[in-house]
Amino acid sequence: MMMHTRRVSEDGTALRYRMMEMAKGIKDLIALGRGDPDLDTPPHIVAAAIDAMRRGEALHMPPPEGLFELRHAIADKLRRENDLLVDPHTEVLVTTGGQEGLFLLVQALVNPGDEILMPDPRYTSYDQAINMAGGVMVSVPTYEEDGFDLRPEEVERRITPRSKLLLLISPGNPTSGVISSANKRRLAEIAQERNLLVISDEIYERFIYDDAEALSMAALPGMRERTITLNGVSKTYAMTGFRVGYLAAPAPVIAAVRQLKITNSRATSAISQWAAHAALSGPQECVEEMRQIYDERRRVMMAGLDEMGFVYCRPKGAFYCFPNAASVGISAAELCYLFLEEGHVLIFPGNAFGEKWGDHLRISLLAPKERLREAVERMQRTIAKHNLGRPRPA
Ligand SMILES: Cc1ncc(COP(=O)(O)O)c(C=O)c1O
Repeated sequence: MMMHTRRVSEDGTALRYRMMEMAKGIKDLIALGRGDPDLDTPPHIVAAAIDAMRRGEALHMPPPEGLFELRHAIADKLRRENDLLVDPHTEVLVTTGGQEGLFLLVQALVNPGDEILMPDPRYTSYDQAINMAGGVMVSVPTYEEDGFDLRPEEVERRITPRSKLLLLISPGNPTSGVISSANKRRLAEIAQERNLLVISDEIYERFIYDDAEALSMAALPGMRERTITLNGVSKTYAMTGFRVGYLAAPAPVIAAVRQLKITNSRATSAISQWAAHAALSGPQECVEEMRQIYDERRRVMMAGLDEMGFVYCRPKGAFYCFPNAASVGISAAELCYLFLEEGHVLIFPGNAFGEKWGDHLRISLLAPKERLREAVERMQRTIAKHNLGRPRPA
């Protein structure tokens, strides 16, 4: 019997999952595909989870909006690090990963026909959420030569009477680009002039390099009442499997998402929430240590990309490189299949993050630097074997 499911489009996320499926069982794989940190969760966070379990915290259903202690720790963090004052009672919601947060948020805010301005390329989970809500995606191009910053004028020229939301993801995935503070300030003005709500996905905020700054949109003048900040502990504290994210937003938005969350998952695991509480309220040196490790890896990969002759812009945040592989003469998808089959290196092609990006590779820096070096060597061997490498354009 045919099962008629509601259609979910085969998109970037499906492509990424297909490649991960192909990678299963490959021996000595160097996995630079997924964006889940490979570093260990700091021990004091793990200890807090074990303690919570021992105290019997998992016995009862936590409140849908999240444990008060965690919401308090989130409000403290936002004040301390982001210059943002929020009421933990009404303006914070704990979600099961940023993933649940983004999905429910879009369902709560977007009506059919609403237009959402969003950077291209981007993390395509937003696409699925918007499609499900019947929203209209309006892609705003970003450019390699700008380091994948977002040009305010490119946003402005796409605003129509149906524009409702502006999505900002900075530092970005897959590009690792960071929106400059000057551009953020101008985007904040535009949002106020044109009455747009802003979703500011700041999940990579703690991993920035060189001279990059991670200014919070909601902290800019006039933005608190029209910005939803999305964040989580997956990236900052290497806690992907704990599945804890959060939203900070005006009370009516939080109330609407809370209602959906009750239907969707009722609550986020209490054990994970206590671990997130330890992460946000405990010592923070571990974050700087991780940042330095990612920075070192970033340099190793940039040196490898230079050797291979790939054009790329210097990643300023997150933990990805997004080189342009057009010079090899085959599509990035074909190249990724070769890297996987012959080199046992898993990398995602750029079109997993937007259809225009079929020449790019997204390389996650989520393996020790010796393994990254080894991955570069394997990639070079594959390129040489197929005679693909061409000199970098002058
Ligand atoms: C830009 C962005 N937002 C949100 C998420 C969701 O992360 P999580 O659900 O692990 O918090 C990710 C995960 O890769 C991401 O890259």
